[in-house]
Amino acid sequence: MNKKSGWNKRLRPLSAAAAAFNASVGFDRRLAMHDIAASLAHAEMLAAQNIIAQKDYRAIAKGLATVRAEIAADKFEWREEDEDVHMNIERRLTELAGDAGRKLHTARSRNDQVATDLRLWLREESDALRGELKTARLALLAQAEKYASVLMPGMTHLQPAQPITFGHHLLAYDDMLARDIGRLADGRRRLNMLPLGSGALAGVGYPIDRARVAKSLDFDGVCQNAADAVSARDFAAEFAAAAAVVMAHFSRFCEEVVLWSSPAFGFIRLPDSLCAGSSIMPQKKNPDIAELMRGKCGRVFGAAVALLTVMKGQPLAYNKDNQEDKEALFDCADTVRACARMFAQMAAEMKADKKKMRAHLDLGFCGATELADELARRGTPFRSAHEAVAGVVNYAERAGILLEEFTLPELKTLVPGADKKMLQVLQPENAVAARSHTGGTAPREVLRQVKKRKREIAGW
Ligand code: ARG
Repeated sequence: MNKKSGWNKRLRPLSAAAAAFNASVGFDRRLAMHDIAASLAHAEMLAAQNIIAQKDYRAIAKGLATVRAEIAADKFEWREEDEDVHMNIERRLTELAGDAGRKLHTARSRNDQVATDLRLWLREESDALRGELKTARLALLAQAEKYASVLMPGMTHLQPAQPITFGHHLLAYDDMLARDIGRLADGRRRLNMLPLGSGALAGVGYPIDRARVAKSLDFDGVCQNAADAVSARDFAAEFAAAAAVVMAHFSRFCEEVVLWSSPAFGFIRLPDSLCAGSSIMPQKKNPDIAELMRGKCGRVFGAAVALLTVMKGQPLAYNKDNQEDKEALFDCADTVRACARMFAQMAAEMKADKKKMRAHLDLGFCGATELADELARRGTPFRSAHEAVAGVVNYAERAGILLEEFTLPELKTLVPGADKKMLQVLQPENAVAARSHTGGTAPREVLRQVKKRKREIAGW
């Protein structure tokens, strides 16, 4: 038989196996500091409302300060028989403060308590993640500025498509991260509502002041329905979903880093500090960090599915199923933050090989679209221009020359009436410069975007 914690006089103890199965303190102790903060705010309100005496509040505050110090110094005795973080802290508080400690749980249930703790914890995580993503964005923007006019082949289907600038390519990732930050900020607004005061599910029969607690814990407001407040975990699922999208974006970047740092492409070089050698092949420089980040998508996507599944089919209101929200959420938040840090480092420290990028661009006949566009600008229907330029590319391929190497007489044999201007458009610098509208790849537009985005970020 399991040793029994103090308060339950109705039931005989859980079996040892069931107690171990039921206990969450092994992982939910991570919520301890938020649990204490919420308890302090709750007790302060109880005293202000004359629900408990001021001297009881003072004893609770003093006791919780000791508990906090013990936890911070790793001197707190966590007991599995006390099941979870909430009851461990309350047990210790009662040892320290006696009957005052036994009054803390007035007008409160573990249901509104855990929902509050988890929201406080996730708010902090979500803010920290947005901070990491901001750092990552600044790294991308610095590189986009540096490489604003470095040419590379833009790809579709991983086949050379049109000339672009590396700065333009990097700004695409900056757009993704900007939306990710926005998604997290949206979720934070819904997350930042106070469950405390909901009791077990029906509210509490005391003259509480929920707004006071919300204010002291920095919530934007209070949850409006007690049954929803204690059982809702969509804020957690929403965070995990946003984190999953972040990871999908990271993995796209990492995939490119893996490809580009392979000698087959050679577009970028990673610093040794982000690569690993091989235990057997002395020449190897493997992009382990990028690959690991790609691989870590599984656990974050998995957390989003796990959290939805925990919530799925639960009748109102609180059910113990909800205890299963924590490990998935903790792992998800830890993983995405660690990846954000690695992403920022990788983005900041990779170096482009302009020559390799240029060589790939030239081999890919990337000027073809611009020549077709030039014919179309002069009145040839675009489909006919497309056909004519296909002939030019076939010729170049057979002759083993690049588009930029065409002489005017040569081009004239394939495109009647060809002139100097047409040769010019085959130069990728010109094709790129022509795309200077919003969102285009021109160096001028890339630099404009970098400036605008840096200004926006500085204003946060
Ligand atoms: N450890 C529990 C959880 O994480 C706390 C809430 C327990 N509530 C209850 N009615 N048993 O959900």
